Amino acid sequence: MLINSLLKMEKIFLKFLPPPKLLRMSHAALNFSDHSVKILELFGYENEFSIKKFGAEIIPDGVIKSGNINNRDSLKEILKKVKEKYDLSLVGATLPEEKAYVFKLRVPKSNSEKEIRNSIEFQMEDNVPISVNEALFDYKIIPKSERVNSIDVGVSVLPQKVVASYISLFKDVGMTPVFLEIEAESIARAVIAKDDMDTYMIVDYGRTRTGFSVVSRGVIRYTSTAEIGGEPIDKILEEKFHIKKEEVEKIKNEKGLVRDKDKPELYMSLANVVSVLKDEINKRFIFWHTHKDIDGKIGDNIKKIILVGGNANLFGLKDYLQAGLKVRVEYADVWKNVKFRDDAVPVINFQNSLSYSSSVGVCLKKFNEK
Ligand SMILES: Nc1ncnc2c1ncn2[C@@H]1O[C@H](COP(=O)(O)OP(=O)(O)OP(=O)(O)O)[C@@H](O)[C@H]1O
Ligand SMILES: [Mg+2]
Repeated sequence: MLINSLLKMEKIFLKFLPPPKLLRMSHAALNFSDHSVKILELFGYENEFSIKKFGAEIIPDGVIKSGNINNRDSLKEILKKVKEKYDLSLVGATLPEEKAYVFKLRVPKSNSEKEIRNSIEFQMEDNVPISVNEALFDYKIIPKSERVNSIDVGVSVLPQKVVASYISLFKDVGMTPVFLEIEAESIARAVIAKDDMDTYMIVDYGRTRTGFSVVSRGVIRYTSTAEIGGEPIDKILEEKFHIKKEEVEKIKNEKGLVRDKDKPELYMSLANVVSVLKDEINKRFIFWHTHKDIDGKIGDNIKKIILVGGNANLFGLKDYLQAGLKVRVEYADVWKNVKFRDDAVPVINFQNSLSYSSSVGVCLKKFNEK
């Protein structure tokens, strides 16, 4: 009820402030992709974290497609089991960025959140192809603007019906959503140091899709998705090189994109797949560096590309991209903003951690954070 009325009245999708007594409780992260939901909960706060629970549950083909819930009953059954297995109550969740619009706006300077939101609403329809009545949005002030009378904000918009479909499911299975956000926001919170004002491109190379985002001065400024993931690599390894399904991940992570004198075809086949990824990154890289903003200025230089997503583990990928794109490429440290308790056991290894960047970011968000 609280959430429904907030949705209608405030048009906020990011945060649903729970009653004060809940503010002290931690929330778990739910990170949806079309084929899985990942769960993570951190225990503790400030510099004293440990991992309380984590895991991933499979979502069968067709239940979610590009973020749209196509089979509600089936997803409800899955979430019911997830709730029980992981003992979940308060949850923060990522929403599909396929459905999101992210852009920069200039609004009159104000200390009132309400006024800023009104100014954004006023300009919204010039920037997104949905009506203001069907949209939910949130914003973040872009720091260090020198103007006296105006501020720049990074706005993210989602269709209300997408948000509502996830919220109603959470409520149906007895989970309390405390906030929702687009996945790129969560990843950036995890992998970029809190006070880092530089500009980065994040590439999330998953199973069936890749998310691209640009973060500048701590604010998401661009997102886009391509329907390319690591699945074609699995297929090539299984069908062309007759590698057993159970061994595919190991081969990807240990041999991957390395020229092997005895098996040159393996490198060639995999390079064909990742060259498409390289081209997709390059397109966005060029777009960012040539597209003029409201001041007629192009975006700040991208300092490096940060890789996340399970398929970032493909051996040799980082060097391949770095050589082809002529820009620094690094693996993400998903724990950049988490300091573990001295006696905490790191139960998620580095390779797996690349699949958990969004979940870590959700865990790090405070309910009352702007
Ligand atoms: N150590 C690893 N841990 C997890 N996934 C790995 C690992 N090494 C390789 N992978 C590959 O990463 C993929 C899963 O990545 P990820 O968890 O980012 O995908 P996803 O978010 O579920 O999917 P998508 O974003 O495409 O909807 C699989 O193809 C898997 O083979
Ligand atoms: Mg993913």
